[in-house]
Amino acid sequence: ENKKLAIAIDGPAAAGKSTVAKLVAKHLGYVYIDTGAMYRSLTHSVLKHKIDVNNHVQVVNHLHEISIDIDPKQQVYLDQANVTDDIRTEEVTNSVSAVASIAKVREEMVLRQRKLAEKRGVVMDGRDIGTHVIPDAEVKIFLVASVQERALRRHEENQQKGFHSDLEQIKTDIKQRDKMDSEREVSPLKKASDAIEIDTTSLSIESVTDQILSIAQLAQQKKRNDK
Ligand code: CDP
Ligand code: CDP
Repeated sequence: ENKKLAIAIDGPAAAGKSTVAKLVAKHLGYVYIDTGAMYRSLTHSVLKHKIDVNNHVQVVNHLHEISIDIDPKQQVYLDQANVTDDIRTEEVTNSVSAVASIAKVREEMVLRQRKLAEKRGVVMDGRDIGTHVIPDAEVKIFLVASVQERALRRHEENQQKGFHSDLEQIKTDIKQRDKMDSEREVSPLKKASDAIEIDTTSLSIESVTDQILSIAQLAQQKKRNDK
């Protein structure tokens, strides 16, 4: 019998999804799946091949021509080449929402993601995991934080890496991406009705992780009792 859960973590950019999802997965011995990295990999490849992101047919055809693999250490491979750093550039970040708004791109990505989540024992983060990819996930979390705090987090990450960083520009970009992700027609960023919302603005990573682990523990007990 399978006591393992599917844990869906959604929310806007820099709310802390991937940081916390990785820690939760580590604690539980689950697999972490970063769906944003899949959309980012396609976007990186589309830009590299100078395909117009507004040409939906070409973008979808391109998705069928490439392979995207993510190993257990979160190294991302595009056609066997390591693109882990390349998919986080500002250029990719500013085009990814347009690529992710294409209905046929989402259909294919969701198929791949559902296959990865089939066996449970997964923590998956993204925008539509609780609403669309794993609607029957036992745990659904919606992480939010103020725009100011989220921009500061990205700004600090950039500074730590020694990159040039403009806080106001980050804020503008985050707002624009939130808007596109929330307003697109196909599975927009939205809290699932049965998701638990956590505002991480003034919470530590440890505190958010602990809250999610407690929620997961309750869900596990419930799963046992329901048997
Ligand atoms: O880490 P960050 O919040 O910057 O973004 P991400 O999780 O890497 O996702 C990048 C982009 O991919 C998002 O802004 C969405 O446009 C898209 N995405 C999506 O549409 N659906 C998902 N399940 C995951 C990401
Ligand atoms: O995946 P998502 O874009 O939602 O966020 P992330 O890539 O995990 O980035 C969040 C950043 O905020 C990281 O630098 C974390 O160290 C930091 N942070 C956090 O994740 N959670 C908090 N409660 C506080 C800070």
